[in-house]
Amino acid sequence: MNDLIIQNIKALVLPQSTDRPLKGKALDELTVIENGTVVVKDGKIVYSGEYTEDYVAKETIDATDRVVSPALVDAHTHLVHGGSREHEMTLKRQGVSYLEILEQGGGILSTVESTRNTTEDELFEKAEHDLLTMIHHGVLAVESKSGYGLDKENELKQLRVSRRLQEKYNLEMRHTFLGPHAVPKEAESNEQFLQDMIDLLPEVKTLADFADIFCETGVFTIEESKRYMQAAKAEGLKVKIHADEIDPLGGLGLAIDEEAISADHLVASSEEDKKKLKASDTVAVLLPGTTFYLGKESYADARGMIDNGGAIAIATDFNPGSCVTNNLQMVMAIAALKLKLSPNEIWNAVTVNAAKAIDVDAGTINAGDKANIVIWHAPNHEYIPYHYGINHVEKVIKDGQLYVNRDLSILS
Ligand code: NIG
Ligand code: FE
Repeated sequence: MNDLIIQNIKALVLPQSTDRPLKGKALDELTVIENGTVVVKDGKIVYSGEYTEDYVAKETIDATDRVVSPALVDAHTHLVHGGSREHEMTLKRQGVSYLEILEQGGGILSTVESTRNTTEDELFEKAEHDLLTMIHHGVLAVESKSGYGLDKENELKQLRVSRRLQEKYNLEMRHTFLGPHAVPKEAESNEQFLQDMIDLLPEVKTLADFADIFCETGVFTIEESKRYMQAAKAEGLKVKIHADEIDPLGGLGLAIDEEAISADHLVASSEEDKKKLKASDTVAVLLPGTTFYLGKESYADARGMIDNGGAIAIATDFNPGSCVTNNLQMVMAIAALKLKLSPNEIWNAVTVNAAKAIDVDAGTINAGDKANIVIWHAPNHEYIPYHYGINHVEKVIKDGQLYVNRDLSILS
């Protein structure tokens, strides 16, 4: 006997299962079934497709007038961090830029201080709240970076917190060591600090899946990023890079040359580097919520990357400085408005392609897949990026079990 049938689904969103990330025109191809059925047994999808009455199950959920999709994947977050930086809003209003705040010892370095002064259990509690918020917004697969410790003790502390969250909630999580995220005040030199982070790799690899670096003016150069990525690969870690977020240093080209699993941000990437995406499986992870939050005019050239045959994904970049939201639905709306992505491209970018960017088995609900499903209170799949800033999740189903049920009833 099957466990669950989701019946009468108004719009069933079915990204295709694929070994490689969807690229170019394939990103706009998405099966959306009007009047669909999903059948679940033992935590797995038995059937998803056109309406059928061929199956029986112990439980039925009626999804009349609802959208059903795979649970979302947030492929880039700085989930585990201490403190917050609301005081920077005033500096931003006064016109002080992100890199100027960092130069003055604020920005990332202020979160480093807070993270160092926060105990492991306190960090866990704070990140747990943020993770549960993400789950309530329809996300069941998450990448989580360190990078606010900038020393052995505190980087490992962040990674342990990330691992503990995965164990507690049994989620699809990936953990990223971002030791070279900034140069701490006490460092003798950039060079020495980078070497210290490279020396940590053998220990870090027991906790981390990926190694990441912030390649940016005043932070780490292309040459330093290359040295770090090669050292990380030699330790068996896959690599990622914060590339061309503000200045066009050429991080995207480096990522492709080093066969990075993803290159992230890419607001200022060169035409030449964008063209190289087609022939590579490096996923361009675009973070339009960050461009929005930093108040920049110019967004990553998502259209150019797709039209040139590249693979893109969309993620929040949730962090306390440059993108203070863990609502991926909000970022889907910004992707529609500012990256000019179609609804199909957006759904593929937050499901199947986001899963490729962090090497998780997630983002699809075809027969045999894990039954990680969202039921949305929305009339069609275009509606979710359209009606922005609020949470459209009605139910989240994890491993075939009802996991979140959002009830909007008023208590008195
Ligand atoms: O992805 N750019 C570097 N790192 C983060 C921001 C971190 C912060 O400001 O605390 C990012 O935007
Ligand atoms: Fe980031």
